[in-house]
Amino acid sequence: MSGSESTKLAELAKRRGFFFPSNGAYGGVAGFYTYGPEGAALKRHLEDAWRDRFTVREGNQEIEAPTIMPEAVFEASGHLEGFDDMLVECAECGESHRADHLVEDDTAVEDAESLSIPEVEELIREHELVCPSCGAALAGEPVEEFNLMFETTIGPGSGQTGYMRPETAQGIFVEFPLLAEYARNQLPFGVTQIGPAYRNEISPRKGVVRVREFTQAELELFVNPETDEPDLSRVADVELALYPIGNQREEGTEYLETTVGAAVEEGVIASEWVAYYLGIAQEWYERIGVDTDRFRFRQHLPGERAHYASDCWDAEAELGGDWIEIAGFAYRGDYDLAKHAEHSGEEFTVFEQYDEPLHAERATVDPDMSYLGPEFGGEAGEIAEALERLAERDRTAFEGETVSVDVEGEPYEIPTEKTGFSVEEVTEAGEHVTPHVVEPSFGVGRTLYTLLVHAYREDEVDDEPRTYLALDPEMAPTTVGVFPLMDRDGLGERARELLAALREAGFEATYDDSGNIGRRYRRQDEVGTPFCVTVDYESLESETVTVRERDSTEQVRVPIDELVAVLGGLRDGDRSFEAIAEEYEHQELSAGTENAAE
Ligand code: GAP
Repeated sequence: MSGSESTKLAELAKRRGFFFPSNGAYGGVAGFYTYGPEGAALKRHLEDAWRDRFTVREGNQEIEAPTIMPEAVFEASGHLEGFDDMLVECAECGESHRADHLVEDDTAVEDAESLSIPEVEELIREHELVCPSCGAALAGEPVEEFNLMFETTIGPGSGQTGYMRPETAQGIFVEFPLLAEYARNQLPFGVTQIGPAYRNEISPRKGVVRVREFTQAELELFVNPETDEPDLSRVADVELALYPIGNQREEGTEYLETTVGAAVEEGVIASEWVAYYLGIAQEWYERIGVDTDRFRFRQHLPGERAHYASDCWDAEAELGGDWIEIAGFAYRGDYDLAKHAEHSGEEFTVFEQYDEPLHAERATVDPDMSYLGPEFGGEAGEIAEALERLAERDRTAFEGETVSVDVEGEPYEIPTEKTGFSVEEVTEAGEHVTPHVVEPSFGVGRTLYTLLVHAYREDEVDDEPRTYLALDPEMAPTTVGVFPLMDRDGLGERARELLAALREAGFEATYDDSGNIGRRYRRQDEVGTPFCVTVDYESLESETVTVRERDSTEQVRVPIDELVAVLGGLRDGDRSFEAIAEEYEHQELSAGTENAAE
């Protein structure tokens, strides 16, 4: 799709109710979009398909957490400290811009996000970059860190500081202790969430691609890194187009066309879990209608990786000539759970039972507090804790007459006989494990936009230009359009009866009797409705209707009492239209039939 086709799609999206900038009556605010009736239906189908694949079929649990969370959560997660983008403000017009994007747009630098502020300031100076809004020079303007979270106050008065969550993931991590209980403390287990996330983007752009409120579909899989492995055999043969770091750094290098199994064997993908989800995602994207010739997985460059991730790949789609990230797959290690445990003081572990109980020796202390108290006063408690830690770490420290420990930088000497040091025989049934997290994280809006861009087609029918969306029948906002050839002689009544019956059978169906039949087909083509059913005079005689397929515009005549089964098979992908056309009477159309006037 060229740039001009992107513009046409944006126009179609607004005119036909897929999505449009919100709050237009009040002049609008950048970065907020409303999904209209067609877009909301497409989004719902997309979310249902994601839920079916990543929650139901993977055996995971789904939750729904609040979107506003207290400050402490983001102190622990690192977002308060490090969820920043680089901002440069134009002194001339006051417009704010993402400094790293300006550098990437106007120089050969590809991952400016990983550079330091002085390096970005230098690039702006060196390349004499200007403000995209007014053309004023930006050299010398300070580049600053800008935190992307929306802050709010919880409760009246000075209240408590809260933030709109910048990722749905945190709503899962903070509830880990309970979620682990629901999963009967058995690893691995996964928790999913589909819901809104908020980022105060410096410069929202490209329609729904970079917005300030968007929907994420995230899966957090909790695994024991020592023992849990994915079932790679399920995806070993799935073909992938990979763009690893090495290929990105070499000018003119092609993608690596490989399979999940080979990529793991050759060490191209470091984490087996990440590889597993790339395979599952590849199949899913294909199923929902992403054009796999315009799709790849790109490995994050080291400086680009989020603060928590050790290996990360993005799913990228080619949209209007640019490669856009539509999902991220990260191995987050134990970063999230360890941080929440440290900051909250709660247990964020799972007790994993050994196959056989383990017999081991354990060094412990039982300090004589009647000695420590009078001797060290207020420090006695902390000294006792320090002794306990030392015993666990280094039992040889207790071999001499005295033991020395440090408390807040102060050394203390304690007679060994007062520490109650001993080595015991213990039987351990298992151990507390801080699970590692594997995270596939999808942007729903960006995926929806990809489906539209990849489905956009222009052709000619009966010598007239036509625009249509070749959406997958399961994704299309409406499955079937029902028309009477004309609204007279009982055709309208029969068509409305049929519409009610199809809706009753669970089809998303629409009715249209205005304008000529060709125009009605065009209206449905443009919003991607895959099938149209027309009630004509023959319908009244033979209890049959015509079923037209959107992409080929072919028609077949189907008995009304078989219509639900035929349309169901077509929608669910169980039967192809070619198979239906072979089975039923093909409807020959003379030239101009589609556009015939009523
Ligand atoms: N929990 C991990 C996480 O949030 P991310 O890469 O920052 O990772 C995941 O976001 C996905 O969310 C992205 O791949 C993208 O599809 C979507 N996304 C992120 N920021 C967005 C924005 N400002 N507008 C629309 N979608 C966005």
